Amino acid sequence: MENRSLVSIAQYTREKILYMLDMAKEFEKKPNRKLLEGRVVATLFFEPSTRTRLSFETAANRLGARVIGFTDPKVTSSSKGETLKDTILMVSNYADIIVMRHYLEGAARYASEVAPIPIVNAGDGANQHPSQTMLDLYSIYKTQGTLENLNIYLVGDLKYGRTVHSMIQAMRFFNPTFHFIAPDELRMPEEYKQYCEENHIKYIEHTEFNEDVIADADILYMTRVQRERFTDLMEYERVKNVYILKNDMLKNTRPNLKILHPLPRVHELAYDVDENPKAYYFQQAKNGLYAREAILCDVLGISLDEVRADENK
Ligand code: CP
Repeated sequence: MENRSLVSIAQYTREKILYMLDMAKEFEKKPNRKLLEGRVVATLFFEPSTRTRLSFETAANRLGARVIGFTDPKVTSSSKGETLKDTILMVSNYADIIVMRHYLEGAARYASEVAPIPIVNAGDGANQHPSQTMLDLYSIYKTQGTLENLNIYLVGDLKYGRTVHSMIQAMRFFNPTFHFIAPDELRMPEEYKQYCEENHIKYIEHTEFNEDVIADADILYMTRVQRERFTDLMEYERVKNVYILKNDMLKNTRPNLKILHPLPRVHELAYDVDENPKAYYFQQAKNGLYAREAILCDVLGISLDEVRADENK
């Protein structure tokens, strides 16, 4: 049987990305559709989450599915030593699809190899966050009218930030120019720079973050320094406030600029930016509902045509 799991954004072709954006657009027009009536969605969160879990669960509810799951592995039998494989096999007995966040890189791929039902990767360590990328692409498309030829500035924790890693892979079809802005300790890992080179993706690295550096940005994608991934907390203390975007830095930016952030924010995005019309991160999180409705339908084999046919019901 075809494995319909979504483990990595690198699975998606250009056509598939555009198809999924079209499906998300349908759900934005009409979020409530009973396309998953009778299905059960399991959300297994081995790491904390607000947006990803709640938007997947809202998506499932709006599609008529029921939801089971956990938000803390300590209340499950994994705290007694049950393996990930056994947990996945057990939940596969109860649900039609598993949405899983795990602290180990590769956990989603492993789960997809052992599970008889589709797995959706809701974030695996510092590796991938493909559903976040789909909502990021949807947000970029909505605000810029295109995914092509954009100047995309990725700022902050580029070492551990799984959202920026997935973003690079997804944008390979759309001729972006990336600007990687990070302190030396949090630079984009070599493997992703090599990926850019292999896929003819232009990138420029910066350590400075100021008005001049961001003047040509179409998208300014801020990220949180990920405290939970540091083995040396002294190093976290040294870099946690390294870049802070403030409203007065945006005066001379492009009129079409939008500021994205996967959230949660900690220190890197001043609250005075929220009132600026270029701030888009709360709408971006809202777009997560539509992108995740599309993902749930797609992994369960429901096509865009079926979604459109439901429009008039
Ligand atoms: N963007 C994101 O993954 O947020 P959560 O950690 O709250 O799910």
